[in-house]
Amino acid sequence: MERKEFLRSVGAGAAFAITFACLGGCLKEDPNPLTTEDPNANTPPDPVTGVLFTVDLSASTSSKLQNTGGYLTKNNVVVAKDLKGEYVAATVVCSHELRKDIIFNNDEFYCTAHGARFDLTGKGINNDGKRGLRIYATSLEGNILSILA
Ligand code: FES
Repeated sequence: MERKEFLRSVGAGAAFAITFACLGGCLKEDPNPLTTEDPNANTPPDPVTGVLFTVDLSASTSSKLQNTGGYLTKNNVVVAKDLKGEYVAATVVCSHELRKDIIFNNDEFYCTAHGARFDLTGKGINNDGKRGLRIYATSLEGNILSILA
């Protein structure tokens, strides 16, 4: 095989490989935050306890959770202290257009992108929130708040 012929054959193969890889990545659908096993956790939950991650409420980094209405975002989960003093958690990924813009506001989850609203059970309150929001159970033991898958 001559050099020119070799380069031509390698070039075609490389172009095919790049195209194939791109199509595979480009055609991959976005995960549905309501049906995917766990689209938000950076690490899989503990197989025994089901804990996705924990928050040490005594740490300065979690001081926002000391007051009712306060919240923080960790591992793509919004963790909040509701107005009753209970800890609640939901995905940061909005079901409307899958933007990571969920916050906690006025005792409900709210998307800052287009205004979707969700109650504490994840039920949509307005039209943009009609597809609901994934909610995570929480468990408190001492100062350690666990977010469960
Ligand atoms: S992406 Fe949340 S309201 Fe549109």
